[in-house]
Amino acid sequence: MKKLIIVLVCLGMTIVLLYAGVAGSKHDFNRPNTGRVCIFCHAPHNANPNQLFYYLWNRVYVPTITALYDGTYTDPMTSASWVTYACLSCHDGTQTAADMGTLYSYGPKTVGLNVLDPPDITSGTNDSLTSSHPVDMDVAPNILPSTDFTAPSTWPANNLPLFDLSNQQTGADSVVTCATCHDPHNQNVFTPAYKFLRADTTNSTICTTCHIK
Ligand code: HEC
Ligand code: HEC
Ligand code: HEC
Ligand code: HEC
Repeated sequence: MKKLIIVLVCLGMTIVLLYAGVAGSKHDFNRPNTGRVCIFCHAPHNANPNQLFYYLWNRVYVPTITALYDGTYTDPMTSASWVTYACLSCHDGTQTAADMGTLYSYGPKTVGLNVLDPPDITSGTNDSLTSSHPVDMDVAPNILPSTDFTAPSTWPANNLPLFDLSNQQTGADSVVTCATCHDPHNQNVFTPAYKFLRADTTNSTICTTCHIK
């Protein structure tokens, strides 16, 4: 009987783990689980045909960022990564819940119940990222002072992946971007689950993973 209970408990945990994904999350726009979930961002066919883009992107990519945060440590940041554009195709303040329906391919043109507007993380009337944590800076070896930062080579190992400025590959350019801190596919990476973050916010652990403070 004890064994059976353990097996049942383990099975329950497996189901919970499998469930931790896009379905059921705030990025599931067909909640509560009535249809497909990936199609609102990616299409297997007939994705946005108009622009060069990666990830089979099924939304309008608008490179409207007027200003990136110019951090102290790296060169002035002049261009944004594809990941930033992908997130901003919903989080730039121009998009509401009503705009979340499938744009290009077949698929639901309206979203499910209780979907809220995407929070706007830009500032000013023009899309500016100067009031957000810097993104799209290259953190290649020897760029950041080791008195202020842990070694960037350890960040991916601590579940904070680095990206490429020009395409979808992780790692090539060692760039910190939105998806370094957030996993758009899983809002439950950490307990307590918080804002799709990849690392714990308790005592701001996520910050001290990179910053020595
Ligand atoms: C709310 C938008 C959104 C939804 C919904 C979404 N994705 Fe993504 N996906 C992204 C973004 C943004 C990226 C690029 C950043 C990254 O790699 O995390 C991405 C990257 C990817 C990649 C390439 C990089 C990697 O992680 O392997 C794959 C594959 C992928 N998504 C598959 C899926 C599948 C399968 C689903 C449905 C179960 C899905 N996505 C749902 C936004 C979304
Ligand atoms: C993945 C690693 C990483 C994480 C996680 C991270 N940071 Fe940063 N942060 C950086 C890097 C790299 C810079 C330097 C940007 C530059 O100078 O180009 C930076 C810059 C900053 C700056 C601006 C400093 C300046 O030059 O103006 C502040 C403030 C900051 N981070 C605070 C935080 C806080 C608060 C958190 C937690 C919510 C956090 N960071 C999480 C890597 C990270
Ligand atoms: C297809 C549009 C779309 C894309 C693309 C998208 N988001 Fe979202 N996101 C939303 C919407 C809509 C919500 C609010 C949903 C709700 O609360 O009902 C949201 C919510 C969030 C939240 C708040 C979650 C919470 O618990 O309050 C975070 C954080 C977030 N998104 C980060 C990202 C990041 C980072 C990316 C890119 C890697 C991204 N999103 C890409 C539409 C999108
Ligand atoms: C250095 C880590 C880091 C980076 C990089 C980062 N974020 Fe966040 N983000 C956070 C943290 C931490 C929070 C939670 C803030 C809080 O509620 O205290 C957050 C919150 C959010 C929210 C929720 C805001 C709300 O009002 O609920 C959205 C949306 C979001 N981020 C999107 C993005 C996008 C888009 C990018 C890229 C342009 C990005 N983030 C880059 C750490 C980061």
